[in-house]
Amino acid sequence: MAESRTTNPEHVTTGPLPGATPCVLDVKGLKTHFRTREGTLRALEGVSFSVAPREILGVVGESGCGKSITAASILRILPPEAHIAGGEILFQTRNGEMVDLAQLKPKSRRVRRIRGDEISMVFQEPMTAFSPVHTIGNQIIEALRLHQRCTPQRARKRAVDMLNSVGMPRPSQLIDSYPFELSGGMRQRAMIAMALVCQPRMLIADEPTTALDVTIEAQILQLMRELQQDLGMAIMIITHDLSVVAEMSRNVLVMYLGQDVEYGTVEQIFFEPKHPYTRELLASVPRLGKKSGERLHTIKGTVPSLYERPEGCTFHPRCPDCIPGLCDSQAPGVFGLDDRHRVRCHLYRK
Ligand SMILES: Nc1ncnc2c1ncn2[C@@H]1O[C@H](COP(=O)(O)OP(=O)(O)O)[C@@H](O)[C@H]1O
Ligand code: SF4
Ligand SMILES: [Mg+2]
Repeated sequence: MAESRTTNPEHVTTGPLPGATPCVLDVKGLKTHFRTREGTLRALEGVSFSVAPREILGVVGESGCGKSITAASILRILPPEAHIAGGEILFQTRNGEMVDLAQLKPKSRRVRRIRGDEISMVFQEPMTAFSPVHTIGNQIIEALRLHQRCTPQRARKRAVDMLNSVGMPRPSQLIDSYPFELSGGMRQRAMIAMALVCQPRMLIADEPTTALDVTIEAQILQLMRELQQDLGMAIMIITHDLSVVAEMSRNVLVMYLGQDVEYGTVEQIFFEPKHPYTRELLASVPRLGKKSGERLHTIKGTVPSLYERPEGCTFHPRCPDCIPGLCDSQAPGVFGLDDRHRVRCHLYRK
């Protein structure tokens, strides 16, 4: 193992290596909290990662670990009871300017202009992205005309072309369908078309294929890869499914209870996982973890509620490698194993 070095968990630099192209997105020490009647819930408690141009970053972790809140924080679409309590969300715009999205007002013109035009999003349930009372074509055209000056005829042509490139059959007819008239897979394609019509620099896809059957899932993932190549955009793909991450990503961020616990290249995460949580996650995936005749591993317990955030390392009640007297009282720092690979765990302290 390479010599470990400690880094301050709140100020980890995951940005580009010296001489490399700047990141499209550089998130540092992000904290997002909810104000509730019972007190403050710390949904994100220090999340750092970066995404380079044309990179696909996979974000994994069990349900409730803060993946969707990370996406909503970047896009500034958090529910009203949530706020960004710390950290930076540096985004490089098309004209090369670095903007800290965490500092902007969620309803400001600047944020609205960036969202949709420069960063857009697809999620699990396309019905929530579309209004049921307008055709998908009109909604795609509206998304385009909100951000770019374009005649109605040109906008319709762009929408038809986009539907064609996401593999919609007979796009010039189906453009006039209402969302409920399409199958789940077709609606997902239409949502991707709407997200990509402005040619964003970055796409955030939150469980984009979770609701689809495996054949359609494979088609949608393949489509996302092709569009990413053609349009040269960066993608952050959020999923609880490690096989999706293995197939799609160059780098992987593993999240647990609102923190980044491991980050590295897809090879490092799958072949040299260091964090006990990552190892447990991998061991519990049927195709990846199970040798013939072996029973499938399950991770002990469940992700605790934010109301019961454990002391010390938040994973300690479930961790097979927990060091009593240390892990249950002291939060681990983030330790760098090499230029990319880093882990938040006492086992790797210097
Ligand atoms: N509106 C809310 N009020 C309070 N807690 C919330 C709210 N939305 C999400 N949470 C909590 O934030 C945590 C992270 O949620 P989420 O980002 O949706 O997880 P994931 O996408 O990884 O499944 C969860 O514990 C969830 O219960
Ligand atoms: S810090 Fe301790 S409890 Fe947490 S993951 Fe590492 S070994 Fe397990
Ligand atoms: Mg989610």
